[in-house]
Amino acid sequence: MEAIEVRNLVKRYSGNGSAAVDHISFSVGNGEIFGLLGPNGAGKTTAIKILTTMLKPSSGTAKIAGFDVSKDKDSVRKSIGVVFQEPSLDWRLTGRENLDFHARIYGISRKERAGRIEEVLKLVELEDKADMVVDKYSGGMKRRLELARGFIHHPKVLFLDEPTLGLDTHTRRRIWDYIKELNDNEGITLVLTTHHMEEADYICERVGIMDRGKIIALDTPKNLKDLIGSDLVSLEMNTGSKGAVFKKLEFVIDYREHDGVVTLQMERGDLKIPTIMAVAQREGIEIKSVNLRKPSLEDVFLHFTGRRIRE
Ligand SMILES: Nc1ncnc2c1ncn2[C@@H]1O[C@H](COP(=O)(O)OP(=O)(O)OP(=O)(O)O)[C@@H](O)[C@H]1O
Ligand SMILES: [Mg+2]
Repeated sequence: MEAIEVRNLVKRYSGNGSAAVDHISFSVGNGEIFGLLGPNGAGKTTAIKILTTMLKPSSGTAKIAGFDVSKDKDSVRKSIGVVFQEPSLDWRLTGRENLDFHARIYGISRKERAGRIEEVLKLVELEDKADMVVDKYSGGMKRRLELARGFIHHPKVLFLDEPTLGLDTHTRRRIWDYIKELNDNEGITLVLTTHHMEEADYICERVGIMDRGKIIALDTPKNLKDLIGSDLVSLEMNTGSKGAVFKKLEFVIDYREHDGVVTLQMERGDLKIPTIMAVAQREGIEIKSVNLRKPSLEDVFLHFTGRRIRE
């Protein structure tokens, strides 16, 4: 049995014309780290809310650990942990009290509680802040505490909705490592949403790319990037109306122009930058910068939608 099975899930909010979640299907294996990557409004939170029984689907089915999210809510809730996009800690309580309260709700015995609280505090490195009221925590500390709270009761599946939103790069990387450790040490199946492509690339074993309620591509980050195939050259330049000269070069597979930046996808093989520079010079096009890079999940999104994730 898969940890999660989603079939043709649809959610329409009343008053909204198009569906927020539009016939999505996917499954997640036990112990897998799965990500939903997409821009604002793609439907990621809506999907998570349905899978965690907070919202009723308009149609379709979803099963968590074999339990149907519409018919067997209690069993689903006992099988999962959730870290919501919006912070949901009690700011007047200390970190330890927040964890203790949650552990009691999940019926963890008094005997087990203290030890388990120490264990989860250790994983997110908050042992020395455990007795401070959460009101005095930094944003990163709050997020780490929410993560600890999410898995304290040994859930089979942990849902993380934008786990690192608004955090600085350093804190973000630490959270990525805690998530990986959690998956390694406790074997928890993880589903996370993000609009941060590096996050999806670095943590997730498979990624579903979401746009306008639909999953437009789903595979391992490597396979998704391999779809783009070759290296990409981005040129910051003022093409005027002459951009198309690059499109005609025989080694250029794909040409896109966006916000004064031309991105060329090239066949594998020798570097063609000198040829590109020569063409620009011949046409009198001034190049401000050149950047050669490997494809990212952003390029995959651009490939399927013609847009960037952050717009
Ligand atoms: N309670 C609601 N009532 C009506 N429409 C809603 C409601 N919640 C979300 N929506 C709409 O559903 C769509 C998907 O929203 P959702 O919050 O699921 O997106 P998201 O991918 O999580 O975005 P973000 O990256 O900004 O968190 C959006 O168009 C949003 O306006
Ligand atoms: Mg969201």
